[in-house]
Amino acid sequence: MPHSLSVHQNILNHNQNHLLDNLCRLSLDQKNDYEQELFELDLVLLEELFSQTQNTAASTEGEITPLDFELALENPKYSQWLQKGEELIAQGAVGAFLVAGGQGSRLGFDGPKGIYSIDLPSQKSLFQLQAERLLNLEKRYGRPIPWCIMTSPLNHQATVDFFENHNFFGLNPGLVKFFPQSMIPALDVNGKILRSGPANLALVPDGNGGCFRALAQSGALDWFSSFGVEYVFLNSVDNALVKVCDPAFMGALALEDSLSASKVVSKANAQEKVGIFAYHNGNPMVIEYSDLDTQMREATQGDKLVYDGANIAVHAFSMKALRQLEAHPLPWHNAFKKVDFWDPQQGFVKPEAPNAWKFEQFLFDAFPLLGQMLAYGVLRNSEFAPVKNATGDDSPASARKLLGQLHRQWLQEAGGQINDALLYEIAPELSYGGENLNAEKIAAAMGQSILSFSG
Ligand code: UD1
Repeated sequence: MPHSLSVHQNILNHNQNHLLDNLCRLSLDQKNDYEQELFELDLVLLEELFSQTQNTAASTEGEITPLDFELALENPKYSQWLQKGEELIAQGAVGAFLVAGGQGSRLGFDGPKGIYSIDLPSQKSLFQLQAERLLNLEKRYGRPIPWCIMTSPLNHQATVDFFENHNFFGLNPGLVKFFPQSMIPALDVNGKILRSGPANLALVPDGNGGCFRALAQSGALDWFSSFGVEYVFLNSVDNALVKVCDPAFMGALALEDSLSASKVVSKANAQEKVGIFAYHNGNPMVIEYSDLDTQMREATQGDKLVYDGANIAVHAFSMKALRQLEAHPLPWHNAFKKVDFWDPQQGFVKPEAPNAWKFEQFLFDAFPLLGQMLAYGVLRNSEFAPVKNATGDDSPASARKLLGQLHRQWLQEAGGQINDALLYEIAPELSYGGENLNAEKIAAAMGQSILSFSG
């Protein structure tokens, strides 16, 4: 238990006196919990982050150049990569890491985004699609794949409950590890820490870049090591087509002896809200869509965008890289957003306009730190169906359509009879990436849970 006086003194030293103005009204338990929260604050860091918000100077100095990429499937080494990845999975050297601590605010869905169903014929959630793809690989290569799932304190219990209520979708529960990421307070326009209640700070998840710290601090990195994991696949929760632990991708990381790798697709159009890959002074990096200036966003050469390589948030890291990142803090980004708060005069406030600074780390800032990132080109229609917005582009409807189109294509290529009016869905139990299908198998599976369809 921290000593009250020293906690209070520290708060006063950093000009956050308002945090103490309500203490006498709290019960002893509330006061103890609140003081623990205050004790854990990194006030020096918060001061530094606030001073960065006041500094409007250009953030990236130096030379930015485009990062070219080629389709992995067309690379002469593709079959070697695939074979290597299959061997690695069979040896137990591959782990999976899902970052699922985000709030999904654009989708307008309150729970963990992974429990969202995009209304496929099977009604499977995003979590289930990923779990079943892992299960396919486990069965095929005869070795379980340990899976870490980073949540946030806001969605941790709901995530764990969902897995438990669904029997972990057939995975071994002992090989699925959940841990929450850290939170950081939001600051008002004067740099004062906001509260969400009389005895609580207004904390928000510290961005997906918090994953490296959380992985190490939760013991999950050592947990991976205990299974002999050497390479870790890392993905965002919201891509309905993600090929979890894609063997060829993992094999490329290992055979090319890179610290990290990322899948890259061509941007759909200049305005698409995706980060783009580039080099900064020769180091690989991602520039987030919110930081991309109009000139770079729209620059073309011939009929192609100059900065065409889109980040689909599918990455892989060697354990060596993850150990390095454990010790190297990533930079912080800030954004002025709406944050609900409480104060003694107004009570609970739901602001109608942005009122607070939020701070986040982005996991792709690991690439310039590592100085190595293998760009692995893939076809967007086969691997990228993001679920970001409630309607329109990158919505459940667009993701469902993309998955339906891909699975229809697999069926056609395997000689199946297709009805153009139907939406087809092939369960990962039957096929992970279009393999293992032929006309006979398709006819036998049609209408069953492993190959379902809806009108
Ligand atoms: C992300 C990428 C963007 C890429 C796009 C592709 C980042 C920072 N941006 O954008 O470059 O083009 O995906 O779909 O990666 N998350 C946490 N904790 C947090 C915040 C987010 O775990 O505190 C997780 C989310 O649950 C999600 C992933 O990170 O799985 C990406 O989330 P989000 O911050 O929404 O990034 P996007 O805007 O989707």
